Amino acid sequence: MKIIMLGAPGAGKGTQAKKIAEKYQIPHISTGDIFRANIKGGTELGMKAKTFMDQGMLVPDEITIGMLMDRIGQEDCINGYVLDGFPRTIPQAESLTKALAERGEKVDYAINVDVPDENIINRMSGRRACLGCGATYHITFNPPVKEGICDTCGQELVLRDDDKPETVKKRLDVYHQQTQPLIDYYKNAEVLAEVDGTQPMDAVFQDIVEILGE
Ligand code: AP5
Ligand code: MG
Repeated sequence: MKIIMLGAPGAGKGTQAKKIAEKYQIPHISTGDIFRANIKGGTELGMKAKTFMDQGMLVPDEITIGMLMDRIGQEDCINGYVLDGFPRTIPQAESLTKALAERGEKVDYAINVDVPDENIINRMSGRRACLGCGATYHITFNPPVKEGICDTCGQELVLRDDDKPETVKKRLDVYHQQTQPLIDYYKNAEVLAEVDGTQPMDAVFQDIVEILGE
């Protein structure tokens, strides 16, 4: 099963993708997490990506597309994957469609997690992220068992550099300009499904399971 998560920054793509990956036993691939791991590791890719990410801008397609294609070519992707944060531009979507078509494959579901901008800023200021395993928490809506420590891997949780309110506003602008058009792209491909992302996390997940099947 090949699944794409669409939605604004902070809509809950990562939260839901993690649950999908566990239930359906497919890898969760987040381009944002891959960039953050590279930044933490001090790689050249990480240094390039950081200059864009810290300003709330997208990392250029030349960097992102190749990186994602390498990742989905790995062996653990043989039975599918859930992509979180990719594609984010029409050229990215077209590259993915083309790469899959060359193997006689296609995206099975594009799930749009719909949350209005007003709800987003609040969510982001309470978010805490684990740079070790990519887990995401919220100080009120989804706190870790031990404050500041990841339940899954025990690493210290951080506030992401791009979660400052002014950067979040910029990310929302970029989302509306460059990523929102993908909703129509996948509607035309007849794989779009929409869920109401303002519900509690478990209710959002239930709706997703209804779409994907038990
Ligand atoms: P990325 O890491 O993908 O960030 P994003 O899309 O901005 O999305 P977020 O991770 O901020 O939000 P999310 O939807 O995953 O929400 P979450 O589940 O954490 O990308 C970061 C940057 O990397 C980009 O800005 C760009 O620069 C670069 N980049 C990445 N991919 C790229 C690409 N393809 N091309 C170019 N550049 C790229 O939830 C948010 C918070 O809300 C959490 O605290 C969570 O606990 C809470 N929450 C979740 N669901 C609910 C709920 N139902 N109710 C209440 N709270 C909830
Ligand atoms: Mg995320």
